[in-house]
Formats: sequence, structure tokens, C-alpha cells
Amino acid sequence: MKAVVTLFTLLLLFSACEQKQHANLDGKKLLEQKCSACHNLDLPPKTFEDEKAPPMMAVAFHIKDFIHAANESEKIPKAIDFVKDYVINPSASKSFCDKESLKTYGVMPSQKGNVTQEELQAIAEYMFSHYTVKNLTEAQAAINRLKKMPAGKRLAIQKNCLSCHREKKDLVGPSFAKIAKRYKGDVLYIAKRIKNGSKGEWKAFHGALMPAFKDKTTLKERETLAKWIVEQEYKQ
Ligand code: HEC
Ligand code: HEC
Repeated sequence: MKAVVTLFTLLLLFSACEQKQHANLDGKKLLEQKCSACHNLDLPPKTFEDEKAPPMMAVAFHIKDFIHAANESEKIPKAIDFVKDYVINPSASKSFCDKESLKTYGVMPSQKGNVTQEELQAIAEYMFSHYTVKNLTEAQAAINRLKKMPAGKRLAIQKNCLSCHREKKDLVGPSFAKIAKRYKGDVLYIAKRIKNGSKGEWKAFHGALMPAFKDKTTLKERETLAKWIVEQEYKQ
């Protein structure tokens, strides 16, 4: 459970960081609008064989590594200036990309006319506050926690079941352990209840409603969830 809470906190933290904006411009949105056609923006990035440009995380790390600055505190302002210049006046000699990558990608086409200097300022500020080793480590840890989870639990997070249920504790609805105990391994029944929702089966919950997940889950997902719920009885 702790892992889940931490994951949510993390997501909140991420979105909180991303609220930081230059003037009234939203660097995150602008980056998505103006740069995502070629650069993959994920943190950490998924890489593809036929990608058009290096992932934005690599670009940000690159620039921070290679930029010449007299001291640490000048690094980010200089890196921001580099982005503002490069996007309008790109060239092979300025690029920090290694020769091999430059050959594969080709030099970036100038984005002159597509993006203003003010917008680039906001984009670059966002880039260097978002693509950091700290955020990467945290995102990677959250992904690893999700990966290690049983598929059923991962689905329970993704489908928001855990806003009303916990494995062992009653919340808005009965604990999954109690549900498992009542239905004794009847995966098909439980899957059907997830599909259609339920009301009045659990007197202690005062007529609270279990919404139907017919449209929000596939049959396979409901079965995975139901199998995981059934296992909760033995994990007390
Ligand atoms: C049409 C595709 C395309 C778009 C749109 C695009 N880029 Fe690029 N970009 C590239 C390619 C290809 C490279 C790698 C070759 C190079 O360094 O020029 C690159 C490289 C860069 C580099 C230099 C990386 C380095 O290591 O030196 C920066 C900075 C950059 N892009 C920023 C941006 C930003 C910011 C935007 C959005 C405003 C953007 N790009 C939009 C294709 C694109
Ligand atoms: C908005 C709150 C809410 C959400 C979201 C929710 N549930 Fe429920 N759930 C409840 C309540 C309340 C009950 C008890 C309803 C009753 O008394 O029949 C319940 C009951 C159940 C039951 C037992 C039904 C029965 O026939 O006894 C199962 C199984 C179940 N939930 C699974 C899930 C799964 C899986 C999810 C996510 C896909 C989920 N719930 C999401 C509130 C919720």
C-alpha cells in the first residue's frame, strides 16, 4: 500500500513542479505542441528504431553536460540560451549530438516562425527543471514498483478501484479480503460484479454504490482483477 501512496504523491509532485511557468506561458504545453512531433518527451523515454530526433531527455542531459559555463550557477541560464538559439539557427557544428546520431537524424530543421523567443524561454526553463537526474530516478523507481506489482493490483490502481477499496481495510466499499472470503474463489461471479456494479449486498456500507465498470474494463481485465481479489483472502 505504501508503494501506491508514494506513487500518487510522486505524480502529484511531478504535476506541482510542472506548474512553474515563465510569464504566462506553459513550458510543458508548449513543448508538447511545438516539439513532440519529432522529440519523444517521456521521462524516461521510450526509444524507437525509426525515431526522428533524440528523445528530449537525452537532449536536456546532453546540453547540461556539454555546455561551457564558468560555474554551476551559470549552467542552466547558458543551457537555456543555447536552446533558444539552436531551435532557430540549428547547425551541425553547434549540435552536441555525436556525429553518428547527427548522420542518422540529420540536422534539426529550423523552427523559425513556429515558435517565439518567449515561448522558447518557457520551453527551455521547463526542460531543465523537468529532465533532471532526480526526476528520472524517481520516475524509474515508480515504474519499477508498478512493474513488480501483480497485474491485478496494477489494474486496481489504474482503474481507480483503490479510491474505494483496500486489500485489507474497509473504505467506501468492503476490503478485497472480505469480498474474497465471501465469494470463496468464485472468479466468474466477482468479474461479473465488477462489470455490472453492485448495491445493497453489503449492509455495513449503508447502500453505498459500486459503479459498473462495463465500459471502463475489458473482460480480460475484469478476470485479472477478480483473480487478484480472490488471492487477497489468503494474504491476511
Ligand atoms: C521536425 C523535427 C523537429 C522538431 C519539430 C524539433 N526538433 Fe529538435 N531536433 C531534431 C533533430 C533531428 C535533432 C538532432 C540533430 C541536431 O542536433 O540538430 C534535434 C536536436 C535538438 C537540439 C540539439 C540537441 C543537442 O544535443 O545538441 C535541441 C536543443 C532541440 N532539438 C530542441 C528542440 C525544441 C525545444 C523543439 C520544439 C520547439 C524542437 N527541438 C523541435 C528535430 C526536431
Ligand atoms: C466509488 C467507489 C467504488 C469504486 C471506484 C469501486 N468500488 Fe467496488 N464496491 C464499492 C461499494 C460501496 C461496494 C459494496 C456495494 C454493495 O453493498 O453491494 C463495492 C463492492 C465490490 C465488490 C463486491 C460486489 C458484490 O457483489 O458483493 C467487488 C468484487 C468490487 N467492489 C470490486 C471493485 C473493483 C475491482 C473496482 C475497480 C475496477 C471497484 N470495485 C471500484 C465501491 C466502489
